[in-house]
Amino acid sequence: MIRIAIAGSDVTACAEPGTSLLTALQRAAYPVATSCGGSATCGLCRLAVTSGRELLTPLVPAEITHLGSIAKVLGLRLACQARCLGAGDVRVEVPEIEDVAARKARKAERLRAQRDRGGPR
Ligand code: FES
Repeated sequence: MIRIAIAGSDVTACAEPGTSLLTALQRAAYPVATSCGGSATCGLCRLAVTSGRELLTPLVPAEITHLGSIAKVLGLRLACQARCLGAGDVRVEVPEIEDVAARKARKAERLRAQRDRGGPR
């Protein structure tokens, strides 16, 4: 069993060997961005593994595609592709899920304000 601690959160996920970080975090009701459902195509589930990297499967080519060749150095992973091995403790940093609707509303408001001032400056 692997225990997955999430930086900045009280949530701890547990996972059996073979379970992806995405599945483990979702089972613990911790939000992780995804639009592909775990097929390694959206790249939204990226996170940083800050300790316990050796308890996860190695990077796969799809992760290099989404995260770049620096991923291994920085500990970046796609949560849907990193699977647990053995037992121990892993610590991850999971980015907040961006509220796309709120971002679009802010952009629309900014564009309205620019238009009201007579155009972009
Ligand atoms: S969930 Fe889409 S790439 Fe991992």
